[in-house]
Amino acid sequence: MAHPHETAGLTQLSLAEHAPPALDNVALDLVRRQALQQRHSTAELLWRKGLVKLLNDALATELVCVMRYKRHHFTAHGLNSPHIAEEFAVHASEEMGHADRLARRIVQLGGEPDFSPETLLQRSHAAYDATLELAAMIRANLVAERVAVEGYSQMVRLVGDRDPTTRRLLEDILADEQKHADELQGWLAD
Ligand SMILES: [Fe+2]
Ligand SMILES: [Fe+2]
Repeated sequence: MAHPHETAGLTQLSLAEHAPPALDNVALDLVRRQALQQRHSTAELLWRKGLVKLLNDALATELVCVMRYKRHHFTAHGLNSPHIAEEFAVHASEEMGHADRLARRIVQLGGEPDFSPETLLQRSHAAYDATLELAAMIRANLVAERVAVEGYSQMVRLVGDRDPTTRRLLEDILADEQKHADELQGWLAD
């Protein structure tokens, strides 16, 4: 026979399961009262500052990736590999799109996007590469993409449920980087 508390718990669970979906009115009221006060706690401000720093490092990474892919795009043409050279250009413009979305989000969060060329490489997780051999280019890009996948995965975990808008952005970019890595891996195997 079930313990009386267990039976009560099961009844409550099934009641909750059958309850119609309803919004949390207390939370809605709180937003109504606080929507026009732009005051954030010190802890919230510190967290945002840290998040903006992470996003700025990701922005630097994307910009270095744009430059690496552009360099590879133009020099791979000389290697009689037009298909891969064209794909490097496609990746470059997708990385630029990521950079733009990160910069826009940084501004929405009250931060400043850092495009300073002086510190770009130092802040980037990925390296620049000026190799002249096609397989070496593909390998350098694959390393950069895998680093990007790891970086964005960590950022998604760090943001968690605290900022759903930033988290969705990071997850979108992560999916693109994974696709880039898969393509590069495929060309290496060819
Ligand atoms: Fe990217
Ligand atoms: Fe990428």
